[in-house]
Amino acid sequence: MSHEKPLLISRIIYKNDFNIALAVFKFKKYRIYNGLYKYHCGISVLKQKVIRQSNINHIIDETQKKEEEKQQAYILVDKDMLNLIPVDKRILNLATKVDFKVFAEDEKTHMSLFLQADSVIDKEKKSKLKYAEKIYALESEKDKYDNFLENHLQSILRDNSLSLDEKTDIIYAASSDLTHKLYANPDALENATLSENIVKPMLDTIIHNENTISSYLKIIEYDYYTHTHSLNVSVYALCLGNELNLDEEKLTSLGRAALLHDIGKSKIDPKIVNKQGKLTQEEFEMMKNHPTYGYEIANSYKIEDKNILEGIYQHHEKLDGNGYPNKLSDKEIGLFPKIISVCDIFDALTTRRSYKSAMKSFEALTLMKTTMNSHLDASILNTFIKMLHK
Ligand SMILES: [Fe+2]
Ligand SMILES: [Fe+2]
Repeated sequence: MSHEKPLLISRIIYKNDFNIALAVFKFKKYRIYNGLYKYHCGISVLKQKVIRQSNINHIIDETQKKEEEKQQAYILVDKDMLNLIPVDKRILNLATKVDFKVFAEDEKTHMSLFLQADSVIDKEKKSKLKYAEKIYALESEKDKYDNFLENHLQSILRDNSLSLDEKTDIIYAASSDLTHKLYANPDALENATLSENIVKPMLDTIIHNENTISSYLKIIEYDYYTHTHSLNVSVYALCLGNELNLDEEKLTSLGRAALLHDIGKSKIDPKIVNKQGKLTQEEFEMMKNHPTYGYEIANSYKIEDKNILEGIYQHHEKLDGNGYPNKLSDKEIGLFPKIISVCDIFDALTTRRSYKSAMKSFEALTLMKTTMNSHLDASILNTFIKMLHK
């Protein structure tokens, strides 16, 4: 196919200092050309012409598209000026309105503006979305994207065209982004609602389907990051709590406690938290403050649910009284921390870190069963083992 259509573009105005250009199309010609040679060929022509003369190669804005007789302009920008974050197109597909700019990348068009902010996703956009290989939002609009994820996660559950595996995959990916946000801003008071909005869709998949844990096990992130660790502990705790027949309200609280269990690490020197290898005695003493800090942070969110606070505060207590921060014994430790500590240890053992490889789940469970029976609640651990081997 020939792209020799220079007449298509009536003007290109450069401002090379900033690597920005404005290209203006004759709109009718552009439409006809696209009609003849498929959608977005006009943009390819534009790019070829512009790229030949500068290093500008990303289209970021359609500025004018009012009447067909008039012209259509595109602002173009050097790709290095664009800071983009990936967007999950499966969630975008379920939305009706999007309040941030969306960029699409595919082989033919490279990068172009796919949706203006506050656009409606109609049938046409939906079908085009199928062909976009990757889509992005501006990093500067990350908050809007995060809010969008938070508000649309629930709608995935209502989509009957998705299988359970697809649903858990979408929910885990979005929840991972949102948990990252939660741990990046540990002092944000909205975290109380955010933690609930992350847990609810996961819980829904668990309550309404048999053996959802096997779907989650396929997609759980086995590289250790604080946020994925917390999310994994939350997934395990929700499944385990469900096996232990907790009601929906209790499960929501348990999932939130598990999600927030390590939030107190944000108050500890990152050099200690991220240290590769064993901590010195002094560093370990500092580290032992994280359940207390976590409890204080959760309190500052105005979380009043005693079970959530206890889940965070006591998750390193051990049944034999050798845990921290309060050396509590079996009877003094609540149900939530007992559940969370089993899930916490299992996830820590089965994830990779730069200084250690991941254990297989069988090895991890064997180790827990044989060496930690004075720390962990035996019947909870047994239920956990049964659940993973269903
Ligand atoms: Fe912890
Ligand atoms: Fe942990």
